[in-house]
Amino acid sequence: MTFDRKIKIAPSILAADFANFGAECAAIEAQGADWVHVDVMDGHFVPNITFGPATCAAIRPHIKGVMDVHLMIAPVDPYIDAFAAAGADVITAHVEAGPHIHRTLQAIRAAGARAGIALNPGTPASAVEPLLDMIDLVCVMTVNPGFGGQKFIDMTDKVCALRRMIGDRPIHIEIDGGVDPDTAPLVARAGADVLVAGSAVFRGGSVSNPEPYGDNIRAIRAAAEGVYA
Ligand code: DX5
Ligand code: ZN
Repeated sequence: MTFDRKIKIAPSILAADFANFGAECAAIEAQGADWVHVDVMDGHFVPNITFGPATCAAIRPHIKGVMDVHLMIAPVDPYIDAFAAAGADVITAHVEAGPHIHRTLQAIRAAGARAGIALNPGTPASAVEPLLDMIDLVCVMTVNPGFGGQKFIDMTDKVCALRRMIGDRPIHIEIDGGVDPDTAPLVARAGADVLVAGSAVFRGGSVSNPEPYGDNIRAIRAAAEGVYA
């Protein structure tokens, strides 16, 4: 994984066909996805349940690029090694998921993965400040985590504050929730480089008709890159 600040589109397989993850991952990559975003939910930290490390390990051989695992679970620490062994390139934990985020980030890097920290909409940018030298990614949630297809919550000021705080450090700013061609420019302009999108990528397509995935990815990327034009 090399670092750059170019716009990267990370489709969330939360909006894919759960009976066909392997083919869905291959389809979105063939249609231009940069990263694959994998949402793990436990029915405790968030009100929904998805899947765990065994599913991530099963998906891994179908992803050529970056597997970006977003843990919406509490506790986190007992499962870090299992997600790293499953082949996660990035493991992101929520700052709200427990009292020891510093220890969690240490454990993620010790397990050989890139460390991400996610902030719920109600959590300020300042929560990241003491952890800047321990992270490779900050995920700014623009919905309350738990479900796909929710309305975008404007976190532009938080993204701007994080961008300033990060300076020249090689830390990605990822946006997760409600990203589509209308909202992507707002966060790209504020300094985000990884755009997660579930419904806005998978809508209209399927593994047997994957071209709409490509159209959707290109539309989000063009909207985000347009802010630099
Ligand atoms: C929400 C998840 C998101 C979700 C985004 O808890 O973390 O990754 O899949 O879905 P959309 O793009 O539909 O808001
Ligand atoms: Zn996510």
